[in-house]
Amino acid sequence: MAHPLAPTALQVMQDAPVIPVIVLQDVAHAVPLARALVAGGVRMLEITLRTPQALACMERIAAEVPDAVVGAGTVRSAADAAAAAKAGARFAVSPGYTPTVGQACRDAGLALLPGVATGSEIMLAQEDGYTELKFFPALQAGGPAMLKAWSGPFFDVRFCPTGGVTPQNAPELLALPNVVCVGGSWLVPHDAMVAGDWGRITALAQQTQSLRN
Ligand code: 3PG
Repeated sequence: MAHPLAPTALQVMQDAPVIPVIVLQDVAHAVPLARALVAGGVRMLEITLRTPQALACMERIAAEVPDAVVGAGTVRSAADAAAAAKAGARFAVSPGYTPTVGQACRDAGLALLPGVATGSEIMLAQEDGYTELKFFPALQAGGPAMLKAWSGPFFDVRFCPTGGVTPQNAPELLALPNVVCVGGSWLVPHDAMVAGDWGRITALAQQTQSLRN
């Protein structure tokens, strides 16, 4: 199935049960990693802006892996959003929310999953039109119980819990009506990348397909 060239936040969330949170230390890992994840059915890739190589990695994936949709994670400023869009990102994920970051993503044509952890933050993001949000850090900030509590007042919001999510606790989160997908770093182990064990990463990606029933 072809992926949308400019996905909405909901399309980013619906594509697979898990959005991988990726930290790339080596540009040479970018393309084989993206190919390994796509081979396992995971196409929405959150490349975090936590390393000096992140933008170059996005450029490589955008140019060489057409079946992947490059996203930027750890977007914390307008400059981050602009740089990510220039590097080929089509969506952004932020650990928190500010109207400045929201505006910068809209200006750059990036779908945004804003990070929230409190009711006030949800309301701030909703004021700017966001109804698909990342719950971060999900397990540390209340986990499934928090999502159940939010489903009352925030009945019109859908979440991507991220932070402390594992293959063990993901099914409980994904079964909640206000959860569309989860985010997590577990399907991109650093040691597998260093070892060039792309088959292990494809297998981890494939295993996520059975987490959502
Ligand atoms: C992060 O900020 O690194 C993400 O939330 C991923 O968290 P995790 O390593 O607990 O999956």
